Amino acid sequence: MNVDYQDLTKRIAALTEGETDEVALMATLACEIHHADDRFDWTGFYRVTEPELLKIGPYQGGHGCLVIPFSRGVCGAAAREGRTQLVPDVEAFPGHIACASSTRSELVIPVYAQRGLIAVLDIDSDQPDAFTEADAAALEAILKNVFGHL
Ligand code: SME
Repeated sequence: MNVDYQDLTKRIAALTEGETDEVALMATLACEIHHADDRFDWTGFYRVTEPELLKIGPYQGGHGCLVIPFSRGVCGAAAREGRTQLVPDVEAFPGHIACASSTRSELVIPVYAQRGLIAVLDIDSDQPDAFTEADAAALEAILKNVFGHL
């Protein structure tokens, strides 16, 4: 089953309306996004907790590494560059951090609030080349709707 982004966007807007707690919002998004699509095998947030450092936030799936410096991995690259990273083959990405050896492709999107970068959303797939530019654009829009005004 592939996600219906129109439906997902509406559902998330309804569920998160009026909520401003970042962890409550991240937990709700991780759950809703993860269960919306069979391609998504790990879905979660890494939060910026101090300069140049990401720590695990709410997620769905198997165990995720607790700490990722900005200098490492796909998540670090997204945080460092402030740009979405669409990685069709994780083995070809220098410095990729393998939390699960089954992961083949990955999509990481920076999350911005009014004060700047607060987190990244990481989605991992066990399928190679699982993600498209359309996935990136739809998820970027959802994150902007939910966190952009905080
Ligand atoms: N693969 C990520 C690390 C996080 S986990 O896969 C949950 C990376 O290289 O940043």
